[in-house]
Amino acid sequence: MTRTKTVVLAGASGFIGTYLRVRFEQDGWTVRTIGRRATKDSAESADWNGDGAITRVLDGANLLVNLAGRSVNCRYNARNKAAILGSRVATTSALGRALAACQEPPSCWLNASTGTIYRHAEDRPQRESDGDLGSGFSVDVARAWEAALEAADTPRTRKVALRIAIVLGPGGGALRPFATLARLGLGGHMGNGDQKFSWIHVEDLYRAVRFLHLRTDISGPVNVASPDVVENRELMRLVRRAYGARFGIPTPAWLLRLGARLIRTETELVLKSRWVQPQKLLDAGFIYRQPELGRALLSIAKR
Ligand SMILES: NC(=O)c1ccc[n+]([C@@H]2O[C@H](COP(=O)([O-])OP(=O)(O)OC[C@H]3O[C@@H](n4cnc5c(N)ncnc54)[C@H](OP(=O)(O)O)[C@@H]3O)[C@@H](O)[C@H]2O)c1
Repeated sequence: MTRTKTVVLAGASGFIGTYLRVRFEQDGWTVRTIGRRATKDSAESADWNGDGAITRVLDGANLLVNLAGRSVNCRYNARNKAAILGSRVATTSALGRALAACQEPPSCWLNASTGTIYRHAEDRPQRESDGDLGSGFSVDVARAWEAALEAADTPRTRKVALRIAIVLGPGGGALRPFATLARLGLGGHMGNGDQKFSWIHVEDLYRAVRFLHLRTDISGPVNVASPDVVENRELMRLVRRAYGARFGIPTPAWLLRLGARLIRTETELVLKSRWVQPQKLLDAGFIYRQPELGRALLSIAKR
């Protein structure tokens, strides 16, 4: 008889965590959770207030996936910045301490990071081996997040930093504002429209998690993105097609900045040129289920 595998999801209540949880359970895994509140709906669960409880949830599990972090969809004022940074570094460090205390720690720890760690790139793709890290608040957060993972002393647990591109999938996430704009007739290109858009379908993110769990030869930063990177102009054309918008008025950068202030968010999501090349996944032979943006958007819009 094969023993059921167990995954611990930290930050499981969000957009990605909810999807991963359903998929792991469909595939017969037991899911344990760590979050701001311990819940009764998973086999075992802990909150962040106490390393002992976290250790108990981790002990004997096969895999840890950490997604915890305060949402970045807000204005970057001092209070929000501190929460965005602190929530990522503190949770990662707590997991490191708890793993070190486990009798039987999971053999693999996949910690979220972000493709935003790379610079604004319109000239060449950014691979794990020779990509240039950028500068500014979001990059500082990503660096500190990965540094906390790196600093964790877990000799029996392989560590991977998932440099995740913008995740598309049913039920919200980053696609929602684009789809809303398209429906309002405002789905034209944004800024000069030349900025690159790196993305991944949430099902391929799940599959990459499963793949990386098995690939014991892979550790360190891994770019989790589709190889089909497009310019914003093309992205918006495909969004309009998927959501049946016949035209889309372009939005200049100044108007985006004004709009972002009004809806209390930042323009980085749409104006930064992200060109994240998933070299390690490609070299390892990872096969995408949704490799093309146009088809991925159509399948999401249909649901
Ligand atoms: N979605 C994307 O396109 C994308 C791209 C690149 C990287 N990422 C990263 O991947 C992770 C998951 O993304 P997501 O889209 O699923 O985010 P999300 O929907 O905002 O969920 C993040 C989860 O983190 C936990 N959390 C929220 N505030 C927290 C705080 N102050 N302290 C500790 N935990 C907190 C919550 O889980 P509990 O309620 O269980 O505590 C929440 O559900 C995030 O760290 C994000 O930065 C996402």
